[in-house]
Amino acid sequence: MPVPKAELHLHIEGTLEPELAFALAARNGIDLPYANAAELRAAYAFEDLQSFLNLYYELMAVLRTEQDFADLAAAYLTRAAAQGVRHAEIFFDPQAHTSRGVALGTVVEGLWRVLGDSERTHGVSTQLILCFLRDESAESAMQTLRSAEPYLDRIAGVGLDSAEVGHPPAKFREVYAAAAELGLHRVAHAGEEGPPAYITEALDVLGVQRIDHGLRCMEDPALVERLVRERIPLTLCPLSNVRLRTVDTLDRHPLPAMLDAGLMCTVNSDDPAYFGGYAGDNFDAVRKVLALNEEQLRDLARNSFNAAFLEHDEPRRARYLAEVEAYAFPSPPTTSGPA
Ligand code: ADE
Ligand code: ZN
Repeated sequence: MPVPKAELHLHIEGTLEPELAFALAARNGIDLPYANAAELRAAYAFEDLQSFLNLYYELMAVLRTEQDFADLAAAYLTRAAAQGVRHAEIFFDPQAHTSRGVALGTVVEGLWRVLGDSERTHGVSTQLILCFLRDESAESAMQTLRSAEPYLDRIAGVGLDSAEVGHPPAKFREVYAAAAELGLHRVAHAGEEGPPAYITEALDVLGVQRIDHGLRCMEDPALVERLVRERIPLTLCPLSNVRLRTVDTLDRHPLPAMLDAGLMCTVNSDDPAYFGGYAGDNFDAVRKVLALNEEQLRDLARNSFNAAFLEHDEPRRARYLAEVEAYAFPSPPTTSGPA
């Protein structure tokens, strides 16, 4: 069994595997502009964040009914559980659905059909984080928050995603203030493609408690010092960074330097159906390619539970952390044959 972990950066729409996309398209009478799942998967060669987002939004057309969202959530939980995920804080993008005529209630009720009982059915506790699309207007974000008020018992927090550059966090000052008033947790993508200043702005203007990605903090030593001092968790997604070309190759990923600097890093999958792996696959990849040792891997797992929004259930956090401490890593596969 893989090391127990929390997944804190996971877009549920990014778990839509090609096979499920085709099954849902058939069920809903939708034509996809690809002959089959293999041809679709072959289109997963991205230049940057925007080229990925174009396909990500296009494929969402197959998600129409509550049952579609329930099936999507169930498929994710099955894969995540098999990779050691014990707790998941799951992003969803309401505006990407309401803009195509799918009601917010359909999305939330559908996801909740499965997430509401996920601990019993899959052994994974879950929470939902509603993300605003930063390339849409601040007014649209505020309307989305207001229309989510009937569902707030199912929503733990708000986040900010989609095309980063040119859409600085401060654009969403009011909606984050309103979310704080409603008692919601706050996170935001920052420093994925955008500059380190967006990370600072997300902290100071939006009052976020975690930074999603945050990779580009490494360009600003004073910011690194602050993130370390304030123990701000960063939800890193190594395989995503390679696929979206924010790092050239995995062996050049700054994760080891970030750990050495004392940053509170976590490892997550972002959009696993598109980027070549789920949470455990990301752990395996950094273990192998970046040669992380057991203590570093255990730290990443510890960090994931310490950064989770579990303050309403500290005994649960303590149980998960105890699982991490008790975990025995299997020995890594040997690279050379017998002498
Ligand atoms: N939406 C889904 N995945 C995303 C990512 N990696 N960055 C920004 N927005 C996203
Ligand atoms: Zn993301």
